[in-house]
Amino acid sequence: LTNGIGLTPPMGWNSWNHFYCKIDEKMIRKTADALVSTGLSKLGYEYVNIDDCWGEISRDEKGNLVPKKSTFPSGIKALADYVHKKGLKLGIYADAGYFTCSKTMPGSLGHEEQDAKTFASWGIDYLKYDNCHNGGLKPIERYPVMTRALRKAGRPIFFSLCEWGDMHPAEWGAPVGNSWRTTNDITDTWESMISRADQNEIYAEYARPGGWNDPDMLEVGNGGMTKDEYIVHFSLWAISKAPLLLGCDIRNMTKETIEIISNKEVIAVNQDPYGIQAKKVRMQGDEETWAAPISGDRVAVVILNKGPIRTSVTARWDDIGLASTTVVEARDLWEHKTLKTKFVGNLTATLKSHSCKICVFFVNP
Ligand code: GLA
Repeated sequence: LTNGIGLTPPMGWNSWNHFYCKIDEKMIRKTADALVSTGLSKLGYEYVNIDDCWGEISRDEKGNLVPKKSTFPSGIKALADYVHKKGLKLGIYADAGYFTCSKTMPGSLGHEEQDAKTFASWGIDYLKYDNCHNGGLKPIERYPVMTRALRKAGRPIFFSLCEWGDMHPAEWGAPVGNSWRTTNDITDTWESMISRADQNEIYAEYARPGGWNDPDMLEVGNGGMTKDEYIVHFSLWAISKAPLLLGCDIRNMTKETIEIISNKEVIAVNQDPYGIQAKKVRMQGDEETWAAPISGDRVAVVILNKGPIRTSVTARWDDIGLASTTVVEARDLWEHKTLKTKFVGNLTATLKSHSCKICVFFVNP
């Protein structure tokens, strides 16, 4: 969407993956505090996104959405002010149907202009727009109505389409939103994470600055995967130019979690100005290579072992779009070191089960 935002994939946090409906303003404020105190905000994590369940079940007498009195007594505007003072941005959740997915609050269908105005008046910076209880109307009939309403409301708001990929939003999402879900909801398991990455990869050619494929939010730090698996999760999301929306409890993270999500070099691949999503360029049994050109005559490469045992995996130049005689300097972004200054032809590494390497190749260094 050409609304001047989302020129690189959005970075921040969302409440759903860890808290589901158990949210309140205190927790959101503490999360904003923690994004700053942990140094994550300095790395680019700027959105604090409230997901489903923030509102009362009924609109007020004027038809406005109402923040839930028991959990958001100070209202959303006060929360936005708080978050903005910290240099962060506030996101909210609504639905392009009659109810949100939790069915605990009204949807925005038929109230698009009113709700967009409300969000703008509160100082909202990001809207996740879900697809539940839609009365059978097509997404293409409902989502652009909110696009226009947001434009009319006059505040630049990142517009995230949460249609789950069923109607191939990658094919129609670019003029409608800044990102579009390509998958059903992620869960905190290796199988779920890998299948989301694969499903999202199909649409790689549609990603661009201002419009991103969204394989759903990060599970890093929620406890269901091993450290190596979370590193694969973060590496694949980064190279796929996916939104980096953290889904753990930012107030209580282990050192390991912070280390993974704070990797500046991996974040830089995600935030590269070219905005080219990686493609899976080789699949051989449990071995995979993913690659994407990045700025400055470089290629970002993930080599991945999806299998149950240690194995050696090879990235071949012809797979990643280089002539086999091209000289490459390869830097390992998890080990933070240059592997070799002059590679030609291929790079082989032995990888543990469910682990990967993400490298940047400098071409003709
Ligand atoms: C849907 C979305 C999730 C989350 C829930 C909230 O399932 O895909 O990301 O927002 O609704 O109810």
